[in-house]
Amino acid sequence: MAKKIASARISQESSKLLKELNDSLPFDKELYQEDIKGSKAHAYMLMKQGIITPQDYEDIENGLEEILQEIEEGIFTLDGGEEDIHMAIESRLTSKIGDAGKRLHTARSRNDQVAVDFRMYVLRHDKEIASLLMDLIETITDIANNNTDTLLPGMTHLQHAQPINFGYHMMAYASMFKRDYERFTESFERNNYSPLGCAALAGTPHPIDRQETSNRLGFKEPTLNCLDSVSDRDFALEILFNISVLMMHISRLSEELILWSTSEFGFIRLSDKHATGSSIMPQKKNPDIPELLRGKTGRAYGNLISLLTVMKGLPLAYNKDTQEDKEGVFDSVKTAELSLRVLNEMLDEMQVNKTAMENACAKGHLSATDLADYLVKVKGLPFRDAYHIVGNVVNFAEELGKDISQMSIDELKSVDSRIDEDACSVLDNISSMNARNSEGGTSVSSTKKQIEKMQKWIEENR
Ligand code: ARG
Repeated sequence: MAKKIASARISQESSKLLKELNDSLPFDKELYQEDIKGSKAHAYMLMKQGIITPQDYEDIENGLEEILQEIEEGIFTLDGGEEDIHMAIESRLTSKIGDAGKRLHTARSRNDQVAVDFRMYVLRHDKEIASLLMDLIETITDIANNNTDTLLPGMTHLQHAQPINFGYHMMAYASMFKRDYERFTESFERNNYSPLGCAALAGTPHPIDRQETSNRLGFKEPTLNCLDSVSDRDFALEILFNISVLMMHISRLSEELILWSTSEFGFIRLSDKHATGSSIMPQKKNPDIPELLRGKTGRAYGNLISLLTVMKGLPLAYNKDTQEDKEGVFDSVKTAELSLRVLNEMLDEMQVNKTAMENACAKGHLSATDLADYLVKVKGLPFRDAYHIVGNVVNFAEELGKDISQMSIDELKSVDSRIDEDACSVLDNISSMNARNSEGGTSVSSTKKQIEKMQKWIEENR
């Protein structure tokens, strides 16, 4: 059983069950880089403030550097039974350099140590996810740019509604992912403050310099209040929320990719790299990847609700409950990053079947609203009257087994004599799409403006 270096007054060895419940090393070893970085900054500050000697600092710095290499090379495997990553690294250091190692923890508690480590981990991944999102937004905007003239049935209630173009549809997703990008970068800014030096809960009597450690670790400045800082996990909740919204967006796109790759739609073809077969049905090509992306949203939501629940009602300041903050965040971060990489690659290699999309527009009377608008604009009818007339036209089209866009002028006139020759052009799906030329609308020129704006934003924020 491991020796307790973090207990001065506990005489008995820990029960096996306590260790199983209490130890976080099996999962918080993920934080080794941050822990070493934080300790180096702390040691430098202790030396600069005259709290430890330059020799001690040098030994600590070199010892930590060696430990980092040993972990990276798999020599130090972090399974020695210590309570957590902080104790594991500290005891390794002390066995290497002796007393200097024992001085490292001056003016520090594991409470501010874990707070700074975990915060650095989360901030690093706020950045990483934002950068993967930028790649995705670029891929989607490129697809949009190649498809501004690809006609697509726009849907509401999953029923044909009005003709749009596929580029416009993709720009809806680019807009969602841009908001996600902004959420991650804003969370980074909001949480970019250092809790190091807060010690257990109340600060320390040692003459420390929190500005120094904050600068060395790349934070904006030290946090304001130590009591808050050692128990604050808002930064972790924010990344879990941001990932939940991101996964929700990914799942909506995945759902459409799944639908579009069915034989009923046939709008896209996923590359063979991103599809799987069936063990019994030889003809199958299944969209497992978008299904998994859709399914993984569940664990992202679970991790968010789980930490919100852990934090609810916790009295100030540190409580061991917060050790439960890590596994969910590690899981959500890995899920989000892998999902973004896979989605980006899959979209990049997806084939768009323009003809199938265009053919689908010949069904569902997509331009019916245009005929109503025509009766209002050209014939001066009140909209509600026009709406009813077009309802009758649609019924007649159904009787004829035609789409409204395929009706002859005589057929149209037989429903209402106020419909003239010029109505035929408004019923054409391409003119219908291009008629919606208002800002943010689907016309080709409006879609192109959206694409240009997005490309400019990408350029400015890359
Ligand atoms: N492993 C602990 C955690 O993740 C580190 C902090 C322990 N602090 C304490 N006072 N027991 O929260």
